[in-house]
Amino acid sequence: MKIKKILVIHGPNLKLLGTREPQVYGKTTLVQINRSLKGYAKKRKVRLVIAQSNHEGEIVDLICKSKGVFQGLLINPAAYTHTSVAIRDAIAAAQVPSVEVHLSNIYTREEFRHKSLISPVVKGTVMGFGPKSYVLGLEALCNLLT
Ligand code: DQA
Repeated sequence: MKIKKILVIHGPNLKLLGTREPQVYGKTTLVQINRSLKGYAKKRKVRLVIAQSNHEGEIVDLICKSKGVFQGLLINPAAYTHTSVAIRDAIAAAQVPSVEVHLSNIYTREEFRHKSLISPVVKGTVMGFGPKSYVLGLEALCNLLT
């Protein structure tokens, strides 16, 4: 059986994790999150390609190119969650099963974060568990694919 490939996209400012608002996002760095994702991927025998971008268009390009190449998408769209029709449309167009993740629970935060434009086009969303949200999201995605 062909090994499943999953694209992981971290949106804007997530490269700063570890030092960025630690009271909200914790002290775990993106490198550490990626390490735990890779560890879990190994257990589930899936291959990950991981990208971080601060640029909406670049994220749209990555998603559009994922069709036919990746069997799943794990995405934390970060601030674009609340603003990007372009990323939402790209996920809808690519038709790659997708899971949205957030470190924080966006519904317990400022009102402008209460709306996700992404949630309606993904299979599901995991939020509020800090860095664990990512591994839980990847687990959910792997379960969907196998
Ligand atoms: C975030 C929540 C967003 O509102 C915020 O803009 C982020 C991170 C999270 O993971 O909790 O950058 O997506």
